[in-house]
Amino acid sequence: MRIGVLGTGMVGNALATKLVELGHEVKMGSREAGNEKAVEWVSGVSDERASEGSFADAAEFGELVVNATAGVASLAAVEQAGPENLEGKVLIDVANPLDFSGGMPPRLSVCNDDSLGEQIQEAAPGARVVKALNTINASVMVDPGKLGDAGTLFICGNDEEAKAQVSDLIASFGWPREDILDVGDISGARATEMYLPLWLRLMGVEGGPNFSIRVVR
Ligand SMILES: NC(=O)c1ccc[n+]([C@@H]2O[C@H](COP(=O)([O-])OP(=O)(O)OC[C@H]3O[C@@H](n4cnc5c(N)ncnc54)[C@H](OP(=O)(O)O)[C@@H]3O)[C@@H](O)[C@H]2O)c1
Repeated sequence: MRIGVLGTGMVGNALATKLVELGHEVKMGSREAGNEKAVEWVSGVSDERASEGSFADAAEFGELVVNATAGVASLAAVEQAGPENLEGKVLIDVANPLDFSGGMPPRLSVCNDDSLGEQIQEAAPGARVVKALNTINASVMVDPGKLGDAGTLFICGNDEEAKAQVSDLIASFGWPREDILDVGDISGARATEMYLPLWLRLMGVEGGPNFSIRVVR
């Protein structure tokens, strides 16, 4: 499948690399084509299935698109990607609305009765937004086996077929299907994004980002 990855940070890098390893064609997007990190990623992967371009280039290229941009910049990134380039496509939103402008810990730039996932769905109404993978560190999201038990992964979105497709993709990363928990429509993003204050706290307590949580019954 052709996949556009918006984002040149550690998440964009980890996902793009994993997707190429799995045989997908991936275009990494950034604000400007020729971005240093994107060019470095293409040459590092050294695979003809890897390419880079602007956010719009990546969105247009992808049959499926991933938003892995800084949460406070994601609406701008989606605008630059062009909602018309996302029409009818599954858009996996991995971003968290963390605002670091006031120092650590970051505050949520949107919360309670709204979420970044919903705002992205509104900004790109033709896209089928699925919020997923935002509750787990980048290195674990593409290699859940590294924790032994990677816990529960939460997804949500308005389109059932899109969620099924995203679940298939996530399962191909090694996530057991029974651990992928659908928490409903895109307003579920309020809940999974508001987990971030706890995630950040746990990172301090655990001394690092390689942990997860599990829903037990
Ligand atoms: N780090 C993790 O393990 C982890 C896990 C789960 C979820 N997340 C979430 O995943 C997202 C990506 O995280 P990250 O650490 O990989 O990268 P990041 O540093 O948060 O974001 C980098 C990306 O944001 C874009 N960006 C920054 N400012 C922008 C602006 N003003 N307008 C448009 N785009 C802008 C950058 O564009 P350029 O390429 O042009 O510089 C770059 O592609 C974040 O929302 C984060 O909260 C992170």
